[in-house]
Amino acid sequence: MHTVGRPKVYVTRVIPPPGLDILKEHCEVELHTEEAPPSKEEIIEKVRDKDALLCLLTDKIDSEVMDAAPDLVVISTYSVGFDHIDIEEATRRGIYVTNTPGVLTDAVADFTWALLLSAARRVVEADRYVREGKWKVGWIPTLFLGAAVYGKTLGIVGLGRIGRAVAERAKGFNMKVLYYDIYRPSAEVEQKLGVEYRSLDELLKESDFVSLHVPLTKNTYHLIGERELKLMKKTAYLINTARGAVVDTYALAKALEEGWIAGAALDVHEKEPINMDHPILKLKNVVLAPHIASATTWARSKMAEMAATNLIAVLKGEMPPNLVNKDVLKVRPLDQVKRI
Ligand code: GLV
Repeated sequence: MHTVGRPKVYVTRVIPPPGLDILKEHCEVELHTEEAPPSKEEIIEKVRDKDALLCLLTDKIDSEVMDAAPDLVVISTYSVGFDHIDIEEATRRGIYVTNTPGVLTDAVADFTWALLLSAARRVVEADRYVREGKWKVGWIPTLFLGAAVYGKTLGIVGLGRIGRAVAERAKGFNMKVLYYDIYRPSAEVEQKLGVEYRSLDELLKESDFVSLHVPLTKNTYHLIGERELKLMKKTAYLINTARGAVVDTYALAKALEEGWIAGAALDVHEKEPINMDHPILKLKNVVLAPHIASATTWARSKMAEMAATNLIAVLKGEMPPNLVNKDVLKVRPLDQVKRI
């Protein structure tokens, strides 16, 4: 049974204000203060006596971690994605899992466009060229020729909150917007967003830009591999702000090197940080970012507030605003997790 007194929470990294203050109002907080994530062993050690865990997407929370924490009633992740948490195991144990959807939607959609435009118009290559002193001749008619964006076709894979926000922005670029998703919204929603459904193969064949917005699941792992990249136009670009493993990045490196597609822009990577010997690092026609799509001051602060609020709600025996595993309510009702 859980210990008497204020509930105990382990927080795996310093999160922006007001997250920690909200937690400290109600709980004893043990904080991992280093910039690098705690090791699995460290997490296991720290959660032993905890009622709650506030983790990041860098922390793999599996049955081994949960086994070590008999008092754990809530795992609140400071992220919208929850592929790093074994949801089934959490539900089975009556552990509530919460996430931070919504507040980062616009930040991620904006950044998707930043990447798309950077890749199409070679912004990063051009910046390097200027800084490295390679700009010796004034204006050159053929310098850094790129691809047009306005009026082209955008293919959105995954029409959830972020996919829709990306589609909304495409209106300003007068684009034809195709989407693929396993769920199809109503015709009204499609019309309002100005999007047309395609099978994944059709979307890949028709789009000038393909942008990924699906969660990482066993069904979306390597959704884009060699076969799919070969279906894309030679002039097309692939943008990934979802999860690295949605794309087989070794196949992508080959596609970029051999010209199956024109370019790519990746915010997320199969391994983060990326291995410095990954072949993709040698290529010019790819823009790489270190998983920062949600990194606006506002979004990251709101995510912290939400993660803390979700966690406290569970400890108060109240319905958390962003519950991932709704089935947990049947396994362990809210009145049985009340600690505050
Ligand atoms: C970021 O990738 C998130 O899932 O919040």
